[in-house]
Parts: sequence; C-alpha cells; structure tokens
Amino acid sequence: MTASPAAADPGLTPKPVWIVGAGPGAPDLLTLRAARMIEQADVLVWTDSLVNPQIAALAPEGCEQVRTSTLTLEQVMEVVLDRARAGKTVVRLHDGDPCLYGAIAEQICRLADAGIGVEVVPGLSAYQAAASALQSELTIPGLVQTIVLGRAGGRTGVPEREALERLAALRASLCLYLSARHVDEVQAELLRHYPADTPVAIGYRVSWPDQWLSVVPLAQMAQVSRERSLIRTTLYVVSPALAAPEEARSKLYSASHNHLFRGGA
Ligand SMILES: C[S@@+](CC[C@H](N)C(=O)[O-])C[C@H]1O[C@@H](n2cnc3c(N)ncnc32)[C@H](O)[C@@H]1O
Repeated sequence: MTASPAAADPGLTPKPVWIVGAGPGAPDLLTLRAARMIEQADVLVWTDSLVNPQIAALAPEGCEQVRTSTLTLEQVMEVVLDRARAGKTVVRLHDGDPCLYGAIAEQICRLADAGIGVEVVPGLSAYQAAASALQSELTIPGLVQTIVLGRAGGRTGVPEREALERLAALRASLCLYLSARHVDEVQAELLRHYPADTPVAIGYRVSWPDQWLSVVPLAQMAQVSRERSLIRTTLYVVSPALAAPEEARSKLYSASHNHLFRGGA
C-alpha cells in the first residue's frame, strides 16, 4: 500500500468500482475498454502476482497503486471501499478474465453491502491465449464440441459433482487452471478416461516473454511438468482436438452445406 486513507466526502455518491480483466499477460492482449479504464484510474489495485507490470504502468502519473499479492481480502477491501467512498475512480485489476477464479464474487458482495456498484470489464483468459498460441481450435466438428474450464480439487476443493473424474469422463477439451501442484493425481485421474496418447498442451506464462508451451502425450504430462518445475501460472489443455487431422473441416464452410448466409434449400 502506498498512501494513507483518502478523505471521505459525506455528501458524495461513490462512483462504481471497476473490476477489470488484464488478460493473460501480454499488454497488447488487453481490451481497449480495459486500457481506457486503467488510464483513468485514480487508484489501481492490482494482482501483481499475475498481472504484467507493463499493464499497471498504463495508469496515469499520480495514480495510487496498490499491489495485492501480500494482502488479505479484508485489507484489499479496506482500500477499495475507502477510496471509492472518497469519490475516487478505483480500478481493481485481475489477471485473465475476472469471472474465472478471480474471487470477485466476495468483493462485489462487500461493495454491495456498502452501497457501491461495480462495472466489470472482461479479459482474455489463459485458455484462449494458449489456444491461439497453438493455432488450435478446441471444438473440431465430429471430434469434440465442448470446452470445460475447471481445476483439480487441491486446497480449495471442488463440489463432488465437478470432481476431475467426472469432467474427464466427457473427454471434451479440458482446460485445467490452478492444477500444476497436483499434476500426478491429475494425470492418473485423466488416464482413466482419455487415451494415454491424448495431446496435452502445457502452457507456462502464456503470452509473456518467457512463455513456455509444449504439447505432450497425456502419459507424459506429470513427468514433463516436474522436469520443468512447473507449479505456478501453468495451464493444461487436454484435448483430442490438438491432434486433429489437417483435413478436419467444418461443415459450416463446406460447399455441400447450405445455410442462411449461403443460399440453397
Ligand atoms: C487465479 S487463476 C486466474 C485465472 C484468470 N482469471 C484467467 O481467466 O486466466 C490463476 C491461474 O490461471 C492460469 N493462468 C493465468 N494466466 C496464465 C498464463 N499467462 N499462462 C498460463 N496459465 C495462466 C494458471 O493456471 C494460474 O494458476
């Protein structure tokens, strides 16, 4: 934290707090709306463990910057509420898309309790950055049409009905966040459902200058992760689509498939 409490104006209606997605890392993967909000911030409260400092640097000179990696939710909210009550434009900057593992629900609740509204700006999520870096479509017709965004249980846990074995049973394109610490259990669980040669993309700090991204057979997922000591900022994409044959072709663009925008019966 960098500054003392702001002076609250008792007659003031606080502006909404902006919860903004910073995308996966590369500054040019930020949305224009997100960039505009950061550029207008009086106070920028940002997840410095995952957001690129170059993005935080878009904030104007004089903007109060608060890094959250060492703070508790209570400490973060103290600053956010105090500055919002003082009529400041507060931007709470999260990595990726805020709706995914961003813990924004608890922040929105506390803001609502305080009578302060929010505006949310979406961001590109890590799985989208990984798919584009791999030049892959994760929904290949006839092969896989569903993308599951999930995580291994770990300390936070997941509801029983969303246990990894249930997600794996779909054999969809499965994107696993926050799971690298549990990669041995994850691989063992996945192998019960996916064939051992199913391609798994392992993405570390995708879109950052030190990005490491590789596609390995499922049977090697844990070993490769361990060899590279991947624990943080790692995403897995388990998908038959990553090995889709070159000739895979969507019916939508096939000459034999007519639809609303391309004549025919
Ligand atoms: C707290 S979650 C937030 C996810 C974020 N809201 C999103 O939409 O990408 C953090 C996890 O997202 C994944 N992640 C975020 N950014 C990443 C990146 N650039 N490369 C690989 N994984 C990433 C990792 O699994 C990391 O542990």
